[in-house]
Amino acid sequence: MLSCLGLRKDYVTERGAVAAVAGIDLQVAAGRFAAIIGRSGSGKSSLMAMIGGLSRPSAGSVVVNGTDIWDLTENELAAFRNRRIGYVFQFASLLPTLRLIDNVALPAMLSRGPGRNGDAGDTYARASALLAQMGLGDHLDAYPSEVSAGEQRRAVIARALINDPAMILADEPTSDLDEQTEIEIMDELLAVNRERGTTLILVTHNLALAEQAEQIIHIARGEIVE
Ligand SMILES: Nc1ncnc2c1ncn2[C@@H]1O[C@H](COP(=O)(O)OP(=O)(O)O)[C@@H](O)[C@H]1O
Ligand SMILES: [Mg+2]
Repeated sequence: MLSCLGLRKDYVTERGAVAAVAGIDLQVAAGRFAAIIGRSGSGKSSLMAMIGGLSRPSAGSVVVNGTDIWDLTENELAAFRNRRIGYVFQFASLLPTLRLIDNVALPAMLSRGPGRNGDAGDTYARASALLAQMGLGDHLDAYPSEVSAGEQRRAVIARALINDPAMILADEPTSDLDEQTEIEIMDELLAVNRERGTTLILVTHNLALAEQAEQIIHIARGEIVE
């Protein structure tokens, strides 16, 4: 379902060009759990940003379920990001002035159109159910600053799921959390992968975690190494 071909990302800096991603081919089947590992600076986040439609490749293609996402118009790409991808990154990107329930409902509210995703009440019911599933049923009305870092991350997972994405992209989602919280958050992500069949692509430094993946993609200096 995900296929990258000849993917490159070159950054032009004052000190010259940096080939952050230097020609990557990879495929991840639908429903899989794939782990991306590699040292800091090896190009993992640059790769994830291109896969997630967040950063345009310098060359190559990203095909998701038959669609070459970098051939889409800006509006189509925005819709793709909103409906098909769930993002879980290290720094919880919850909007501080919105309650958890509003944060989770927001992507669905943004993508609502006539006859799609039901009405607002429906969206809020789903947001509430997702937060409850993540153990936050008692914190629906809390603001992000009123809950712990682990709870914020759970809310981010709930938000990632609100539009029932095909794929979750998680870039070191737990590296700032303590070990026990990391285990709990990862359990939630793995359960989503297993129970909903959502493809999970996870960048991690935790090798024990990576070993639970069905596919390990090892990156060094912008290339895949065996
Ligand atoms: N916006 C940018 N501008 C210039 N260089 C960048 C930028 N983002 C990343 N890089 C460089 O690209 C390389 C890969 O970075 P990154 O994709 O963040 O790696 P990783 O996530 O594996 O740590 C590094 O050398 C980094 O310094
Ligand atoms: Mg990174």
